[in-house]
Amino acid sequence: MLNITIMPDEAAFDRAAAWRIITGMLANPRAVIGLSTGQTTKNMHRLVSEIFALCPFDVSGITLFNVDELTNLPRSYAGCCYTMIKEQIAGPLGIREENFIMPPTMSGDFEGESRRFQEALEARGGIDLQILGLGANGHIGINQPGTPFNSETRVSPMDPVFEARVRKETGVGPEHPLGGLTLGIRTIMHARGIVLAAKGAHKADMVERMIRGPVTEDIPASVLQLHPNCEFLLDAEAARKLNGTTGKEGGVPSGGDRHGQV
Ligand code: GLP
Repeated sequence: MLNITIMPDEAAFDRAAAWRIITGMLANPRAVIGLSTGQTTKNMHRLVSEIFALCPFDVSGITLFNVDELTNLPRSYAGCCYTMIKEQIAGPLGIREENFIMPPTMSGDFEGESRRFQEALEARGGIDLQILGLGANGHIGINQPGTPFNSETRVSPMDPVFEARVRKETGVGPEHPLGGLTLGIRTIMHARGIVLAAKGAHKADMVERMIRGPVTEDIPASVLQLHPNCEFLLDAEAARKLNGTTGKEGGVPSGGDRHGQV
């Protein structure tokens, strides 16, 4: 049975998601928490930072990292995960640099960097909570369709739409290889807790395939159906193709979330 939470609107989704992160920190002051960048998580990170500023708590033992990072671009590029996470949440919470574990974006040895990234997380006892976004093609992290479920942390190609956006933003030409260093699917599946967060009508088809479709390497996120402690946290728009939910117009109770097992 899958653990699916459907929030009535985007604001409620953002709040619920922010509290998943805060609760993870409060429940375990030494938690190792993996984040994800993108439109889905921007507001949740902002809310975590705002709530922390209002009601601070001890984060001196918390480790933060991001599930993936761009390769072959300087960290000064605003789209690099290090920079986004630092600005959105690690900085505002005052997470010390040694507790903010990120692979470098530039290196002559990404194989070694991938190994060291994974080993650094293992040395801290593994991942307590991993927040994941959902790619338009079903990717998680930068694990594209076809990635073996037993994949480890490594450099992977970006999906073509995302790569085109990065190239446009950076002016980097096709002769310059771009990719992303990502936790592998196996590494993600070893997290003790996972929250897959998806919001917006543009995610609805992929949400349905991830949750209702077969578990297949063609849809990397479908593997999460097999994780014993994964919550699928959705807003009503993203959930509109799931049973009994037709989006904002369709009977999502106001003032509360629908929490169900499917
Ligand atoms: C990128 C990131 C993923 C993220 C995904 C979703 O591909 N590498 O980690 O989950 O985008 O992005 P968005 O939330 O903007 O839809």
